[in-house]
Amino acid sequence: MSNKAISGDASGRGAVAGYRVSIPARQRPYTEEEIAEVVRVMRDVPGQTQGAMQEQFQADFKAFTGANHAFAVGNATQALSLAATLCGVKPGDEVIIPAYTFCASAIPFGKEGAKIVWSDIDPETWVVSVRDIERKITKKTKAIVCVHLLGMPCDMPAIVALAKKHNIKVVEDCAQALDSRINGQHVGTFGDFGCFSFHGAKTMTTLGEGGMLTVKSDEDAKLVPGIRHNGVCGFTYPRERYWVPAMSNVDLDIEGFWPNNFCIGEAQCALGSMELKNLTKFSNIIIAQNDKLRALLKDVPEITFNKIPEGFRHVRHQYIQHFDGSAFGKDRNDLLDLLTTKYGIRSIVQYYPLYRYPLFQKLGMGDHDCPVLEKFWDNSFSVPMWCGMEDEVLVTIADSIKSAIADLKAAK
Ligand SMILES: Cc1ncc(COP(=O)(O)O)c(C=O)c1O
Repeated sequence: MSNKAISGDASGRGAVAGYRVSIPARQRPYTEEEIAEVVRVMRDVPGQTQGAMQEQFQADFKAFTGANHAFAVGNATQALSLAATLCGVKPGDEVIIPAYTFCASAIPFGKEGAKIVWSDIDPETWVVSVRDIERKITKKTKAIVCVHLLGMPCDMPAIVALAKKHNIKVVEDCAQALDSRINGQHVGTFGDFGCFSFHGAKTMTTLGEGGMLTVKSDEDAKLVPGIRHNGVCGFTYPRERYWVPAMSNVDLDIEGFWPNNFCIGEAQCALGSMELKNLTKFSNIIIAQNDKLRALLKDVPEITFNKIPEGFRHVRHQYIQHFDGSAFGKDRNDLLDLLTTKYGIRSIVQYYPLYRYPLFQKLGMGDHDCPVLEKFWDNSFSVPMWCGMEDEVLVTIADSIKSAIADLKAAK
């Protein structure tokens, strides 16, 4: 194997000094068409916020996902916060949330005063276990949060059926799962709410930040504009004097909820609409790359990937795998030590079980009963990935993993 550094793509993604292959901050660069669209909005759109581009982006997002309603917001954390409010979460309510996720899946519910009940992962798919959710439902359970982590859809038909039986709201955290589907149905459209992220690290990004809330019921959807924008709405016309009583109207019926400003600008919305057009093409590239990596490592028993059930479209947000070196007394950290120092592959390790963080422990959310995650997490890692990785890079990664495992066995 050659030791030459892999330069990533033309923008240098995938290259970090001192490493041969590294995970880049962004999955793909903008196209020239996308850049031109942002510049056009900068020049031509007078108000720059909450105008025709927002309407268009929401309509395009509804068409892409099949959602009943879609509302552009500043990021997925804000979408989750709106969902927590609309679920009516109050102090003392319990909300079941996966422990294996990014912290923002849980924080908005904790802020409403909920007791977070951590749910475990399924040993095969590595997203939330339906059986574990069922075991944790009590009379106090107000909502279930499902996270399609790393783009892998949770078993939504089973979770929605369970929630219906117990009259519990379902929030889907789709921050990492744009274009992920179950039998063609887009994630975020199964439960009551879907929360999407267009953060810089995602498969599409609206200038680094951005998000979308999808809503199932018409009643909930009516409340969103006011809660999203400080309770502000347009006046009914005609008015005798356009300036009386004032020129902004805080008059939306939002049922006693305190509102927010969670709005997004017109340039971001216009860019989002443009990106949706090419999204599936890029998702397919990412999926095909990961399938190749899986094939390259299929004869390495120490490395396993998650199982993707029939009909599930798993757009890979990261290329995660699990290492089992117990037969020769080695663990994930031993493997990553070698991959970084000897082979120059800079992987990442993500989504530390949330109950292990002081943030949650100090807020009284440190209790947990997640045996599968406890066993799985400490041996998981994600190798570098970006959209458009060449086969040579995938082969370099796979060969490095094989060689590092051989080294670990020899050092036993
Ligand atoms: C699973 C998950 N949920 C929520 C979020 C929050 O998204 P945002 O950064 O758009 O607020 C992220 C962001 O990475 C995420 O990965």
